[in-house]
Amino acid sequence: MRVYKEMKASVAVAALVLTAATANAQEVEVLHWWTAGGEASALNVLKENLQAQGITWRDMPVAGGGGEAAMTALRARVTAGDAPTAVQMLGFDILDWAEQGEVLADLNEVAEAENWDEVIPEALQRFSKPDGKWIAAPVNVHSTNWVWANKSVLDELGIEQPGTWDEFIAALQKVQDSGKVALAHGGQPWQEATIFDSAVLATGGAEFYQKSMIDLDPEALGGEEMVQVFDKMAQLRGFVDDNFSGRDWNLASAMVINNEAAFQIMGDWAKGEFLNAGKVPGQDFLCFRVPGTEGNVTFNADQFVMFAQTDEGKQAAQKTMASAIESPEFQIAFNKVKGSVPARTDVSGDELDDCGKLGMQQLAEAAEAGTLLGSMGHGHANPAAVKNAMYDVITAHFNGEYDSATAAEELVNAVEAAQ
Ligand code: GAL
Repeated sequence: MRVYKEMKASVAVAALVLTAATANAQEVEVLHWWTAGGEASALNVLKENLQAQGITWRDMPVAGGGGEAAMTALRARVTAGDAPTAVQMLGFDILDWAEQGEVLADLNEVAEAENWDEVIPEALQRFSKPDGKWIAAPVNVHSTNWVWANKSVLDELGIEQPGTWDEFIAALQKVQDSGKVALAHGGQPWQEATIFDSAVLATGGAEFYQKSMIDLDPEALGGEEMVQVFDKMAQLRGFVDDNFSGRDWNLASAMVINNEAAFQIMGDWAKGEFLNAGKVPGQDFLCFRVPGTEGNVTFNADQFVMFAQTDEGKQAAQKTMASAIESPEFQIAFNKVKGSVPARTDVSGDELDDCGKLGMQQLAEAAEAGTLLGSMGHGHANPAAVKNAMYDVITAHFNGEYDSATAAEELVNAVEAAQ
């Protein structure tokens, strides 16, 4: 009798497990900051891919370029014991989470089956596979030292594509004199930091960038060259319009798209906005490296970090999502829309537009030459605490709180305090 009872109970448990397993539909909840038009179109490529594989998509958008707001939202979710399935993340933030013990999922099985070790460049693996464990699926490679220019505005004013920093300043001046907005910019710390990447490169090249932004050498952070970097930032500040404060980056892109402004310095996600508005590179807009930074590339790569889940359906969905992201077809389909280039080195760039092809070629050349550097503005040069300390100084200077010499001194102090 007793045996019979026990048997009945275990059959019941087995039935329960079975129901739970079938009820565990594959679902992903995705936390991201891709809320601008071009970004949303790119994200749709992923969403549709997964939906076609029977996966339910729960969207958790947290607006704000650079992802600071998204990272704050993430911390709240994890603290509440309710981590999302997959989270868009950048560089050093991934490493910070990797150090938190067992909060992240292990993607080694998919990575091994699909040979990610061979096709994802070392510069990205450093963040997606710390300590030999794949915890994130890299989606793309962006770079920040780009200028986006309205071709008809330049043609109208007889402005050639500038080749040096001084020519760039002269071009900006000419636009400003014409009454149009010279530099479309949004006054948010991360946008100023994005420009700062280029100001550092244009002042001292890759070596100085490495010493100051990556090695955090106090002499480089506070020396004469850094004063010149801040001088360049002050020059640029002179070419933004009165309403720049707080403006979102995509609204600044829209000013260039709509013939209100001539130039924007922004990562190549800006191209996503131009494409989304039906604009054609070379015809309607120009893309070129910030004058004075040619040969150097400051990059950032978006990755989807998978947070550990107990639900089997969610675990399975994470693997499907990771695998979908790394498929060569997806890499092209997504990056064509996003403005970035593939995260895999074995994918042909033939289908990319002219700016994409140029970006891909320059990235490969910079990697070869040792001038491919992690973007400070986008979390690939130093940890979040240091990055945020830099943001504060850069923004305070941009808004006139410090002169250039004081800003360089403050940069040293802020970085020291953050370490
Ligand atoms: C970056 C991110 C890009 C882009 C941008 C603006 O940090 O890597 O994918 O979306 O923010 O939102």
